[in-house]
Amino acid sequence: MSTWANLGLQDSASPLMEQLTFFHDHALLILVMITVLVGYLMFMLFFNTYVNRFLLHGQLIEMIWTILPAIILLFIALPSLRLLYLLDEINEPSVTLKSIGHQWYWSYEYSDFNNIEFDSYMIPSNELPNDGFRLLDVDNRVVLPMNSQIRILVTAADVIHSWTVPALGVKVDGTPGRLNQTNFFMNRPGLFFGQCSEICGANHSFMPIVIESVPVNHFINWISKNINS
Ligand code: CUA
Repeated sequence: MSTWANLGLQDSASPLMEQLTFFHDHALLILVMITVLVGYLMFMLFFNTYVNRFLLHGQLIEMIWTILPAIILLFIALPSLRLLYLLDEINEPSVTLKSIGHQWYWSYEYSDFNNIEFDSYMIPSNELPNDGFRLLDVDNRVVLPMNSQIRILVTAADVIHSWTVPALGVKVDGTPGRLNQTNFFMNRPGLFFGQCSEICGANHSFMPIVIESVPVNHFINWISKNINS
């Protein structure tokens, strides 16, 4: 979960988010190098007095400063493409969760387990317990097993929403009339918070997502308790 003074990405909780973090750092490093170089050159322009009345063109330098940035862009484009295809890969999921966006809450369906379904509303600030997270906690959390491949199907009932959980590297639009698919793998237990990230109406900011990542046997207990009730 993100707290104050966290300007970068959240700590990753899945292998894909780890890869996304690596790519972010890689791209940022290239960006810093370019900014420093260009900044230095621009700064130094104030202090030189180079004048050449006969200089009209320079073929060589133009070739260099055209091709070099193109090569640098390749070093960003190729890892980016690798990541794009990696994120789309589905690896035999053991659990499927369907999440449906509504104005303004999420509802969930565990279609593998006798179709357990429930709504997940944000807890209003005046009802929040002392240890709750304001504007981020929900009444019914999504419980999912850690160390398992999880498929998530996202759709919406009214307008476009987006099911986004930064720590897992998941961000999928829920569009009415369409079913979008992605998957993730949680490599540690914990609470992972997310929010809707399509501007979906007046209370767009108030439809958070909370995932409880638990050991598999705990998940089985939870699911069997909910099937019986
Ligand atoms: Cu749903 Cu923004």
